[in-house]
Amino acid sequence: MRLLIAGGAGYVGSALIPKLLDRGYSVDVVDLFWFGNHLPVEAGILNKDLFDTTVEDLKDYDQVVFLAGLSNDPMAEYSPSKNFVYNAAAPAYLAYIAKKAGVRRYIYASSCSIYGYTVNELYDETRPVSSSYPYGISKLQGEQAVMNLADDSFSVIALRKGTISGYSPRMRLDLIVNTMFRAAHCDGAITINNPAIWRPILAMDDAVSAYIRAIESHESVSGIFNVASGNYTVGEVGDLVKAELEEQIGAKVNLTIRHLQDFRNYKVSIEKAKNVLSFHPQHDVRGIVKQLIREKGKFSDWTNPAYYNIQVLRDIESGMTHPTLSRPAVVGR
Ligand SMILES: NC(=O)c1ccc[n+]([C@@H]2O[C@H](COP(=O)([O-])OP(=O)(O)OC[C@H]3O[C@@H](n4cnc5c(N)ncnc54)[C@H](O)[C@@H]3O)[C@@H](O)[C@H]2O)c1
Repeated sequence: MRLLIAGGAGYVGSALIPKLLDRGYSVDVVDLFWFGNHLPVEAGILNKDLFDTTVEDLKDYDQVVFLAGLSNDPMAEYSPSKNFVYNAAAPAYLAYIAKKAGVRRYIYASSCSIYGYTVNELYDETRPVSSSYPYGISKLQGEQAVMNLADDSFSVIALRKGTISGYSPRMRLDLIVNTMFRAAHCDGAITINNPAIWRPILAMDDAVSAYIRAIESHESVSGIFNVASGNYTVGEVGDLVKAELEEQIGAKVNLTIRHLQDFRNYKVSIEKAKNVLSFHPQHDVRGIVKQLIREKGKFSDWTNPAYYNIQVLRDIESGMTHPTLSRPAVVGR
């Protein structure tokens, strides 16, 4: 099977692609390499904007996976115009040309953030979505556009992912558990802005398995699926990060609790992904922290701007060439 992964050089793609190669798939990546290239040399590299991909370019692929775009609220708020182009128009364009090219399946990286501010009920995929901020709106627009294209010969799967955390060769330290881990490790203190807010957390290894389950699901499967390892309040996440770090490395971690307003609050049901995709998460917050402790030697240059998406975007927008963490992107397979 030949796969094209758009945005595959990012945090999710850099963890997913080695696993896809292990399973014997042929994998190419189209990416702008904003965060450098941390992919295995076996991955084919197309160093360009996905908007420059044509129907002809996609003719040989069986499946296309969309992992590109501006991947958090601070980036979306910083450049709303780029956000709506890359998060709404880009997935729509790529799905449209993939279908024209005869690709059989398109998998879209959606987000639970489209649920917005909910009222402490468990949301399944049939519940109303209500985000009124650029990131959530654009992820929903992208999802609606690609789902419109699904039919008997073109499967479309949207994975509404919780906030991912854990290690990836392209590391991010701007995601909830990873951020708390860095703060606890470097400052001996975690600040919780609002302990009551609910968030579905997705361990990176579970995110990778969700994509594999989607890619390998029966050709008749299309649809929208919530994927998460578990639902937690932010207060509980802080307690678990603190407890695991104190137990593993014996250092005292202080908690500072604030009560600031947040515009996202949601918990989700993953029953549909379990029943249709055979997605069964294996990890929890303490497991994520254990993995981060094991791998921390690979990202302990904690202040490296490449670990913080908003810092890289600001540099790109101001015309700076960004110093990447590893070898430069190579063009061609
Ligand atoms: N990380 C999370 O917690 C999370 C949660 C839910 C949904 N998502 C979604 O999953 C996807 C992957 O997230 P991530 O954390 O790996 O993101 P990331 O920011 O680490 O990587 C995104 C990649 O896409 C590339 N890119 C962006 N626009 C492009 C374009 N037009 N053409 C080619 N390449 C382009 C960037 O260079 C980068 O390598 C995103 O769509 C994000 O919105 C992420």
